[in-house]
Amino acid sequence: MPHGKILLMTPGPTLVDSEVLLELARATINHVSDEFDSIHLGVVNNLKKIFGTSGDLIVLPGSGTSAMELALRSVVKRGSKVLVLKTGYFAGYLADGVRYLEGSPEIVESELGKGFDGNLLDRIIEKHRDVDVIAFQHVDTSTSVANPVSELAKVEGDWGLRAVVDGVASIGGMEMEMDKWGVDVCFTGSQKALGVPPGLGIVAFGSRFSQELDESSSLSLYFNIPKLRREMQSTKNYYITPAVNLVYGLAKSINNILEEGLENRYKRHRIMAEAVRGAAEKTGLKLVAKEGFQADTVTAIYLPEGVIWPDLYRSMKAKGVEIAGGLGELKGKIFRIGHMGQVGYNEIIATIAALERSLRELGYPTELGTAISHVQQILAGYGN
Ligand SMILES: Cc1ncc(COP(=O)(O)O)c(C=O)c1O
Repeated sequence: MPHGKILLMTPGPTLVDSEVLLELARATINHVSDEFDSIHLGVVNNLKKIFGTSGDLIVLPGSGTSAMELALRSVVKRGSKVLVLKTGYFAGYLADGVRYLEGSPEIVESELGKGFDGNLLDRIIEKHRDVDVIAFQHVDTSTSVANPVSELAKVEGDWGLRAVVDGVASIGGMEMEMDKWGVDVCFTGSQKALGVPPGLGIVAFGSRFSQELDESSSLSLYFNIPKLRREMQSTKNYYITPAVNLVYGLAKSINNILEEGLENRYKRHRIMAEAVRGAAEKTGLKLVAKEGFQADTVTAIYLPEGVIWPDLYRSMKAKGVEIAGGLGELKGKIFRIGHMGQVGYNEIIATIAALERSLRELGYPTELGTAISHVQQILAGYGN
């Protein structure tokens, strides 16, 4: 099947609208010209609305991990103690990032499928009173576990600590209110719920933290916060060359996001997540993330007995739908469906229909139409 015909339902990269892709094909222009400066400034200002901050925001060429590294550099110095709340595979990235900066990570792991709540975090900090920073995933893409960011940020604020939130699998698909909730640093990549191809890292600072940011901390040639901050005010303050064409794509996608409206967009994500979870459960499959901690952007589902991942992947792809497998400890045990960004209800219907046929083909006893009928009920119930 040609690539263009494959429905991309992985949790990143995600579907990109053709009008966003077409932006990438526009003529590359001078990055310090008035024209590009104005496009870039528009992107930075609009992204602040999505992150809910009036503080600084940096867009840089790189993947989500580049944004993570820049974010960590803003709060971690040699000797910093960082509490990493682990809800899946990507906590390992945060911990390694801290180690490379010569800080010391203290990893606390949740029960598989659960996140952390405010009371639990409070009790954990009681036992780790020497920590300076708390770092966690809003959504860990590997487990589809979501943490209640506002609750956790409140506890962090009460203890006078800094909070770094990995929003790679949530920003653009789930609410983020950095200033209101007291989040100091949050980051993402372009290829997830923002609906842009991979290649841009985005780091946002809360407005209070922006003013207190110690510009001398953990500098490096590339991850140079003071110089990048100046470039974000105007690309004429050249430090590194922006990814001009990706920025065009991001500008278009953000305009579309704001046109859809953030509340509408988050609601659409909640409905898609409910439909996918409901379909899985109707089929007798078990979800990884437990109630109360389920992401709206991705769903991790245990493979039923007798069905192995390579077969499911191949069968789904033959039906024109690409899904993702497990990462780390869950490799070979689960599969994941991404439902973020430009994915809509029609894509959910196509995916669940293909899943029913694939499972049956692979010997799992399921009646065709059970899951899809449930999805139909959910969508119709919301008037879609
Ligand atoms: C939650 C989370 N954090 C970090 C990353 C790393 O981002 P990237 O692969 O863009 O470097 C990912 C990638 O999937 C992710 O899902």
